[in-house]
Amino acid sequence: MEQHFPLILVIGSVNIDITARGAHLPAPGETVHAQSYTIGLGGKGANQAAAAARLGTGAHHRVAFAGRTGTDDFAKQARSYLTAFDLDLTALASDKQHPTGLALIGVDQKGENSITVIGGANMALDHTDVDRLQPMLEQARVVLLQLEIPLDVVEYAARCARASGCKIILDPAPAPSRPLPSSLLSLVDVLTPNETETQALTGLYPQDEATAEQASQELMRQGAQAVTIKMGGQGVWWQTPMAGGFVPAFAVSAIDTVAAGDCFNAGLATGLIQERSLQDATRLAAACGALATTKEGAAESAPEWEDVLRLMEKQNN
Ligand code: RIB
Repeated sequence: MEQHFPLILVIGSVNIDITARGAHLPAPGETVHAQSYTIGLGGKGANQAAAAARLGTGAHHRVAFAGRTGTDDFAKQARSYLTAFDLDLTALASDKQHPTGLALIGVDQKGENSITVIGGANMALDHTDVDRLQPMLEQARVVLLQLEIPLDVVEYAARCARASGCKIILDPAPAPSRPLPSSLLSLVDVLTPNETETQALTGLYPQDEATAEQASQELMRQGAQAVTIKMGGQGVWWQTPMAGGFVPAFAVSAIDTVAAGDCFNAGLATGLIQERSLQDATRLAAACGALATTKEGAAESAPEWEDVLRLMEKQNN
């Protein structure tokens, strides 16, 4: 990782994902047989960092990840998975009091998933973790945040990142139970909800371009400077105060949608660090998200830079 390459800093969660794959997901009270299971690296923060780092190998940027693991066996596993990516892990702390985050995931034959997260050490992050990041924030151009760590820490990190002149992407996932405070949203350069997160934040479900535009305008009224709404197999709506538009989904054979949103965010950060327009960066991000659905797993499903460029060239939508 060349020191002069621009830096993306991801602050967020790291989990071990235990994923069961079967014909369908269990309904409440139901027990189902799964065909197989895997154990891998997950957590929205770690996935975004890993995906951005994999892109960075070809796109020439550096990535640092800040978060907390426990000191248990899952922590050793998580660190060893993270080490396989070209990432700066100096800001990944070990928490003696809390277990490493864990996610129990089901994936059905259509590639749809359901996830239960036990936050553990992720939810113990506090302002001191952010204070330690000051030298990194001064170097970083883009900071990526999500909602698997305490909300006040997300807001504090956004405030410090803004004071250091970084661009801030906030993925409001998992869906919050109520709208986010304007004090946080007004620090965000690009807010990247999916449909359910959009509904949680605005009360509007974006089912087509018109409703996506309406919801984006509402999110900008709440404080965000720009918005991309991830609408799964349909595509992505992007919106700035001046313009908006739709990027149709890239046609791929999806087998597993876990972490597709995380890879989208990594792609968006890459686009912003390359100073692309939001429209262009959204297209790049959509290609990253699409490719992630063609592979099993969370962090492991992150695409290579060359494959992203190839897909964008092949499908000039
Ligand atoms: O976005 C996917 C991630 O959500 C999984 O890796 C899981 O750990 C949960 O955090």
